[in-house]
Amino acid sequence: MTLTGAEVAQHNSKDSCWVIVHGKAYDVTEFLPEHPGGQKIILKYAGKDATEEFEPIHPPDTLDKYLDPSKHLGPVNMATVAIEEKVETAEDIEKREAVALRPALAEMYNLLDFEAVAKRVMKRTAWAYYSSAADDEITMRENHAAFQRIWFRPKILVDVEKVDFSTTMLGTKVSMPFYVTATALGKLGHPEGEVLLTRASRKHDVIQMIPTLASCSFDEIMDAAEGDQVQWLQLYVNKDRDITRKIVEHAERRGCKGLFITVDAPQLGRREKDMRTKFTDDGADVQSGSTTDNSQGAARAISSFIDPALSWADIPWFQSITKMPILLKGVQRVEDVIKAVEAGVQGVVLSNHGGRQLEFARSAIEVLAETMPVLREMGLEDKIEIYVDGGVRRATDILKALCLGAKGVGIGRPFLYAMSAYGFEGVDRAMALLRDELEMNMRLIGCTSVEELNPSLLDVRSLGAHGNGVPKDVLSAAVYDQLRNPPQRSKL
Ligand code: LAC
Repeated sequence: MTLTGAEVAQHNSKDSCWVIVHGKAYDVTEFLPEHPGGQKIILKYAGKDATEEFEPIHPPDTLDKYLDPSKHLGPVNMATVAIEEKVETAEDIEKREAVALRPALAEMYNLLDFEAVAKRVMKRTAWAYYSSAADDEITMRENHAAFQRIWFRPKILVDVEKVDFSTTMLGTKVSMPFYVTATALGKLGHPEGEVLLTRASRKHDVIQMIPTLASCSFDEIMDAAEGDQVQWLQLYVNKDRDITRKIVEHAERRGCKGLFITVDAPQLGRREKDMRTKFTDDGADVQSGSTTDNSQGAARAISSFIDPALSWADIPWFQSITKMPILLKGVQRVEDVIKAVEAGVQGVVLSNHGGRQLEFARSAIEVLAETMPVLREMGLEDKIEIYVDGGVRRATDILKALCLGAKGVGIGRPFLYAMSAYGFEGVDRAMALLRDELEMNMRLIGCTSVEELNPSLLDVRSLGAHGNGVPKDVLSAAVYDQLRNPPQRSKL
């Protein structure tokens, strides 16, 4: 039986709350208190079509997974649903104009340029979620700054007519030594979401790591791959291990080539930009008379299932349920790298989660410089593959990591920004820019293949001097979106 808009509209309160998503009605009355993002946002759409709000933050299979089939009320005749007149807000107008005034794509000369455009064109809440980091965002900035404390010791008079920067990662041949790392909620930046990154990765022959908290469903992202394109899975471990087991087994069956277990997020960090935009969006809660909003921002809303009890003792269980290579993502000290070798995992990603977790975590590149000499001394350097992520914006950053011994680097936010600013073409250009930079810089340091990259090509003497002697980084400083104090409340 097809429902009419008028029928759905009657269920517009806490006591009986129906919503329409993608042309179907759902009774979410009982689900209200369980909604990780809070009740208020659902109640805003009670009796109405919630598709537009729902879409970016919920993979398409969410309702099937989390809402009992008895609450799926069936199709709605959408012609009978009252179309709400959309009043363009001041923000909508500002963003529309910013899109029209974007510089030409050809004017993007580096990854930070995309960030500048993304900041102008993205919805405020979306920008806040992507760009935010923990506390005062010092680790986030340190990630980028740390690369600038490493200088090159290039070789000269090497025949560099032909340079090859292809390499292998977990046995997969890739054309460039970076991969697209996992980042949540791709549709906040672009209506197509993560599948757009799949296509760009394919075109440039690099690996994409699929996030647990993607906007597209896992299968959609796998389906978007072509031919022998390789994808990995980033895993947030659910308190319910049965759910985790199903995710892992399904990923393996679908052909995922690596399992990256996130180990730096037993609880999601406090990202104040994210939290603050939620606050100003909802404003005072008139109904209950309260003036505070309990929303913790997008990050906390989507992550309540993550198991803070995950420990080293769980690793054998993962090894028992999958044959995929297992890597720990978010390792931050050499002692834990050694433990990872002992645990028999295939690799680690030295990472502080883009500065979004522990504030004053050190940069991955610094941890790498600490790690590799120890591994070499212990004869362990070939026992494990080491990746790094965080703050990578230039090919020189990538080459520095490889010189120090990384197998490859993950790049997250820059591709999200390129996608948000210019869609597929943006990501395509961002990757092409990195390719050009890689080629030139390989030549300039006098190396023709990644095997030749080694620590003697670097001067890392000031790497450990946190925050000292860092030259002013003009581009980064210009796009850095400063934290703000609370706004004044508007007059009643
Ligand atoms: C974040 C999580 C979801 O950093 O990875 O927001």
